[in-house]
Amino acid sequence: MINHKLTTPEIQDFIAKNLQLSIHDLILKKQIFEGVSNKELAEQIVGRNKAKKKFPFLDKEGILFPPHISLEQASSQTTAEYKAGLMKGKKLLDLTSGLAIDAYFLSNRFEEATLVEQNSSLLELVCHNWNIMNKKAVFINNDLQNILSQISENFDWIYIDPARRDTLNRKKFLLEDLSPNLLEIQDRLLEISENVMVKLSPIIDLKYLTQNLKQLVEIHIIAVRNEVKEVVCILSKKPKNLVFKCVNLESTELVFDFEYSETDDIHSEYSYPEKYLYIPNNAVLKSGAFDLVSNRFNIKKLHPNTHLYTSDMLVENFPGRVLEVNIISNKKEITGQQFNIISKNYPLSPEEIKKKYRIKDGGSDYVIFTQSKDKKIILSNANLAKNKN
Ligand SMILES: C[S@@+](CC[C@H](N)C(=O)[O-])C[C@H]1O[C@@H](n2cnc3c(N)ncnc32)[C@H](O)[C@@H]1O
Repeated sequence: MINHKLTTPEIQDFIAKNLQLSIHDLILKKQIFEGVSNKELAEQIVGRNKAKKKFPFLDKEGILFPPHISLEQASSQTTAEYKAGLMKGKKLLDLTSGLAIDAYFLSNRFEEATLVEQNSSLLELVCHNWNIMNKKAVFINNDLQNILSQISENFDWIYIDPARRDTLNRKKFLLEDLSPNLLEIQDRLLEISENVMVKLSPIIDLKYLTQNLKQLVEIHIIAVRNEVKEVVCILSKKPKNLVFKCVNLESTELVFDFEYSETDDIHSEYSYPEKYLYIPNNAVLKSGAFDLVSNRFNIKKLHPNTHLYTSDMLVENFPGRVLEVNIISNKKEITGQQFNIISKNYPLSPEEIKKKYRIKDGGSDYVIFTQSKDKKIILSNANLAKNKN
C-alpha cells in the first residue's frame, strides 16, 4: 500500500531539499515526520536520485519510487526510447510492467496500452505516478500466466522484460530460468499478438537465442556510451530473415546491422598493424560478427582472437574508435608516461601493464597492448618524440 503522506507538499519539499543526505544517517535518526518512517523517506531520496540519472522524466514532485530492486530492474529512459522507436500500432500489452519505464515510452506509440504486474504495491505506485503525469492505461494486477490463459483479444505488440532474479535474489540468464519462462509461453504470445519484443540480459548468448526462440526476426544489441545494456529480441508472426542491429546510444556512431546469413562462410584477412587501428564498439563486438566487420569495411584483422582491425586508408563511419597508430619497438618510449591503456588478447591486464611500465592512467593518448598473427605488439597513437621532453 502506498503511504499517501509521502506525497504531501511538506514531505515532497523535504525530499527535494535533502537529496544529498546520507541515507545511513537518515535511517538512524529519530523519526522526522509523523506517519512516515525515515526508511520511507530514504527510499524516496534514493529513488529521486536514481531518476535524475536513469529516468529523468520521473524526476518530478509527487512521483513515488519503489524499493531498490525495482529501480535496478527498470530500463533506462534512453533504452526505453530506443525500443519505442521500433514499434507502433493500436494495442500494446506489457506483461511485466515493473516500474513501467518501458511501458511509459512504448505506450506513446499506441492508442491503447495494458500493463500487467504481479506485484500489487508496485502496480499501485505506477498507477499513482501515471495519474500525476496524466497518462492512461489499463492496469492489471495478476500473474501474466492467468492473463495469457484468459485473454481472447489481439494485440499489435506484446512487450516482456522478464525478472532476471530468483527468489533468493540471484541473477539468472537462461530463458528457462527467467520469470516468466519464455520458452513455455512464446507460442501463446504469438497467438495473441502480431509482434513480441523481449528484453534480455546483455550477457545472454546470442547463438542460444537463435536456437531457442521461434519466429525470431530481429536481435538488437543496445549499448549506451559503449556499455552493452540490453539484448532485445523481436518475434513476429510474419516470417523474415533474422537481422542483427548493433547500436551505441548517446554516441555519434552509426548502427551496424546485418542479416544473420551474411555471417556464413566469410573470413577475415589478417595483417600486421597498418596506419589506422579500428576498435569496434561493444555492441558490435557482442554480435560476434568479427569477419563481417572485416569484409564490410574492407579492413584487416590483427589476429583471429584480437578483434582489432587495421588499414592504410581511413575508413569513414566505422562503428567504434579509429586511431592513427605507430608500433612501439622500444618499451622505454612508453615507460613512466601517461596513457590510456587498452589490453586486448595480451597476457597482462591494464593494471599489470601500468605497474610493469610505471604508466600513469589518463590523458589523451592511448597505448594498445595486443597480438598480431605472429607476435605480441604494442601500439600507440601518441607522438612519442613530443612526450619524451
Ligand atoms: C525487469 S522488471 C520490468 C521492468 C520494466 N520493464 C521497467 O522498465 O520498469 C520485471 C517485472 O515483471 C514482473 N513479473 C515477473 N514475473 C511475472 C509474472 N509471472 N506475472 C506478472 N508479472 C511478473 C516482476 O514482478 C517485475 O516487476
